[in-house]
Amino acid sequence: MLARIILLSLFLPFLAIAFSSPGMAQKKPSASVLKKGKAIFKENCEVCHQADAIGKAGVAPSLTNPEFLSISSDKFLEGTIRDGRKDTGMMPFAHLGRSKVRAIVAYLRSREKLPNRTKQVDAQPDARGDPRFGKTWYMNICSTCHGSDGNGYESEGAGTAIGLPGFLDKVTDGYIRETIKVGRSNTRMLSFQGPAAIADLTDREIDDIIVYLRTQAKK
Ligand code: HEC
Ligand code: HEC
Repeated sequence: MLARIILLSLFLPFLAIAFSSPGMAQKKPSASVLKKGKAIFKENCEVCHQADAIGKAGVAPSLTNPEFLSISSDKFLEGTIRDGRKDTGMMPFAHLGRSKVRAIVAYLRSREKLPNRTKQVDAQPDARGDPRFGKTWYMNICSTCHGSDGNGYESEGAGTAIGLPGFLDKVTDGYIRETIKVGRSNTRMLSFQGPAAIADLTDREIDDIIVYLRTQAKK
């Protein structure tokens, strides 16, 4: 008995640490908020983002993709839903009001499968690189899906409009960097780093691309 108590008291602090790990510590939203979020999603978003938000290439991206959710902060999600993305099919939903937008985000989060690492990702340093090299990589690899002007579906591509301010103004360089490195499972967005990738870009080359995208958007 005593041995058990000692064992337990040794173990408990670790359990406490495990459950309070960053990102997982957020308060769980109530069942009624999740239900509300799901209903609002169905009514406003499902037509493009599909049932269960699984997305459809050329129509709207997946919002329950594990790699996407793991690097998407609430601020980014709420802001994108509120403001939409100008010159894309993603319209603004500011009229829903903050509590409804938050309920949708809570519903999407309830589908999260990977640990949330938005804090670390958004704290990454800004990209430093050469936009001329970035342009070459972008044109050779990325433009097929994201369009040569970065306007995505508008250019008949499968990827989103990563060259437009509606996207770029809302994301950190860390978000872009991680998406290029990790990709998004079960979508056409593959990983572009590592021996298994179709193009094994170095950190430097990835930063070149980010710098290129940022300079493009300013034009
Ligand atoms: C074969 C097609 C394809 C290629 C090539 C491709 N992507 Fe993508 N990319 C996608 C798709 C599709 C998505 C969105 C995933 C979805 O539909 O759920 C995406 C998403 C992204 C996102 C996230 C955008 C957002 O709206 O959140 C970034 C950033 C990105 N890609 C960067 C790149 C870069 C940089 C390259 C070149 C190195 C590249 N992609 C090459 C298809 C592609
Ligand atoms: C008319 C179609 C349409 C509707 C309705 C719509 N969206 Fe979108 N959504 C899109 C498109 C298209 C994009 C990608 C835009 C781009 O190319 O960057 C997008 C992108 C997004 C993104 C960014 C995803 C990423 O990969 O970065 C979020 C978040 C999002 N939508 C949430 C919502 C929510 C929540 C609703 C409902 C309140 C909604 N959308 C309704 C078409 C739609």
